[in-house]
Amino acid sequence: MSNADIHGGVVRIAPSILDSDLTTLAGSLAALERAGADFVHLDVMDGHFVPNISIGVPVVASIRKATQLPLDVHLMIDRPERYIQAFVDAGADILTIHVEATAHPHRALQMIRESGIRSGLALNPGTAVRSACALLPFSDLILLMSVNPGFGGQTFIPTTLRRIMELKSMLSTQNIDTLIEVDGGVSAANAGEVAAAGATVLVAGSAVFKNERGVEQAVAQLRDASRLQR
Ligand code: DX5
Ligand code: ZN
Repeated sequence: MSNADIHGGVVRIAPSILDSDLTTLAGSLAALERAGADFVHLDVMDGHFVPNISIGVPVVASIRKATQLPLDVHLMIDRPERYIQAFVDAGADILTIHVEATAHPHRALQMIRESGIRSGLALNPGTAVRSACALLPFSDLILLMSVNPGFGGQTFIPTTLRRIMELKSMLSTQNIDTLIEVDGGVSAANAGEVAAAGATVLVAGSAVFKNERGVEQAVAQLRDASRLQR
C-alpha cells in the first residue's frame, strides 16, 4: 500500500492520548474507532530530549492488543535508534524519530523501513525545514512540530503554516509522496488553515480529549474543519 492509498487526498486525523485519562484507555480507544480516527498518535518521552516523561514500550504493546487502529508512534527520545526494534516489536505501524535526537537520522530511518513499517521524521519548531531535504526519500511521513515538544495543551505556533508550505514545495520538487503531519495545538479553530497549507495528517490531543462534547464529536469537528478550506 502506498502513501497515496493512505491519504488519498483526504486529511487524516490522529488523536494523541497524551492527555487522556489512562485509567479508561480501552474506552478511549473504542471511542476513537467509532469516531473513525485514522491513526492513534502515541507520544513517547524520555525526560532528556524533552523535559517530560510519558509512556514507553509496554504501554504501546498493550495498546496494540486493544485496538485495530494504526499506531503512529512519536519518539521524543535521545538516540532513538536504540529503541527502534523494541517499538517495532511492540506493534508500531509508523515510527517517527526527531532529526535533532540523533547524529544518524538516515540510519535510523533505514532501520525503521527495513523492519517493515513506515518511517517518520520529526522537526522541532526551531529546526530549518531544509534540514529534512536529504532525508525525504527515506521518510514516509514528515512531522512538523507546531509547539515545542514535551507537553499537550500548548498554543499552535502560526509560522508553522509557512513551514508546511515550504515542506510541501520541497516534496513536489523531489516528486515524493510523503505524509505531512502537524503536531501541537491543532484544533477545529485552525485545522482548516493547517490543511489548506498542505498538512495531510493532523495530530490533536487536547482538542479531542478535553472537548466537552466528547471524543466522537471532537474528531468529527476536526474532520469537518479540515475540509473547509481545501
Ligand atoms: C507534544 C506532543 C503532541 C501533543 C499534542 O509534545 O507531541 O502529540 O500530545 O497535544 P495538543 O494537541 O494538546 O497540543
Ligand atoms: Zn506527538
